[in-house]
Amino acid sequence: MLDFYRDDLSRLDGAGRLRRLRGRTGHDFTSNDYLGIAQSARLRDAVAAALDRGVAVGSRGSRLLRGNDPEHEALEAEAAAYFGSEAALFFANGYGANMAALATLPQRGDLVLHDALIHASAHDGMRLGRAPVRSVAHNNVGAFEDAIRAWRADGGTGLPWIVVESVYGMDGDRAPLAELAALAYRHGAMLVIDEAHATGVFGAGGRGLAADLHGRETVVSLHTCGKALGAEGGLLCLPAVLRDFLVNRGRGFIFSTAPSPLMAAAVREGLRMIADEPERQARLWELVRLAEAALGFATGSQILPVIVGDDGAAVERAARVQAAGYDVRAIRPPTVPVGTARLRLSITTQVDAAAITGLAEALR
Ligand SMILES: Cc1ncc(COP(=O)(O)O)c(C=O)c1O
Repeated sequence: MLDFYRDDLSRLDGAGRLRRLRGRTGHDFTSNDYLGIAQSARLRDAVAAALDRGVAVGSRGSRLLRGNDPEHEALEAEAAAYFGSEAALFFANGYGANMAALATLPQRGDLVLHDALIHASAHDGMRLGRAPVRSVAHNNVGAFEDAIRAWRADGGTGLPWIVVESVYGMDGDRAPLAELAALAYRHGAMLVIDEAHATGVFGAGGRGLAADLHGRETVVSLHTCGKALGAEGGLLCLPAVLRDFLVNRGRGFIFSTAPSPLMAAAVREGLRMIADEPERQARLWELVRLAEAALGFATGSQILPVIVGDDGAAVERAARVQAAGYDVRAIRPPTVPVGTARLRLSITTQVDAAAITGLAEALR
């Protein structure tokens, strides 16, 4: 009865694409806890204090029923003030936030244009949405413009939506945000910016790469809370009318138990930490510079992929580096395009200079 599943798994295995869950061992060159907040004493203390003041672990229902908690509301007010948006809406994770935003906000008659390397959660949201979706060559502002022009010439009258990441999670390169914002302005388009890998890492106070764009009526951004913020969740920062629309029309928001209030308390502390501990960001950048020098290349971010190409070869190379004591994982299709399997090196403040030099040697 379950042959389909067995066969599929053995096909994946044969192609070097079978995934297995494994534990955490070796120097961390894999996690997204870029600033070392997840296990910090300050975050633990904040969570313990929240429990002491009676913050609930479970939310008891959807936000629209009894699940709405003062911790959610306080977090959203703080996040909007911090990132400079009119409003914010908290989800249990970035995946759910992206899904809800892209499935709900673009309407029939609109056009959604996404960068070819956008995250799976955006794809899944767009697939559920009402508007037609087109992929645009990676970081190619001219191609976004051509697609909008062609659509308008063809009679498109709705809103174009441009969907990008500010830092691409598997490549580490950055979107040309200023040019994209200018393009969006010229064409009356909405700009959706996934800041998952930029929050906490870039910008004054870790506000991300879209910090200057927040507050515009045409900008929606996603700050995930499970990476540099050291906790879990996804914060959509957006105009108040779009927040209210999601509260009323966003199925992923309405038909789901609200995130844990305790997690909202943790995220609030994570935001305070990126604000008051700039030394974490400074340390991260020191380590990134060391890694760039040791590896001989740079991407402009803390994510440094070593492209291998073949899936099996990437797995073998990762295994050799792991055996030397470095936690590096092979990333294979469909997470990355076919033929570009890679070791995704993520620099975090969990490692020191010696580990970076050792990793570079192990890679050689
Ligand atoms: C670019 C990007 N967007 C969204 C997500 C989803 O966020 P979360 O892990 O909080 O579900 C991730 C994380 O994997 C990501 O890398």
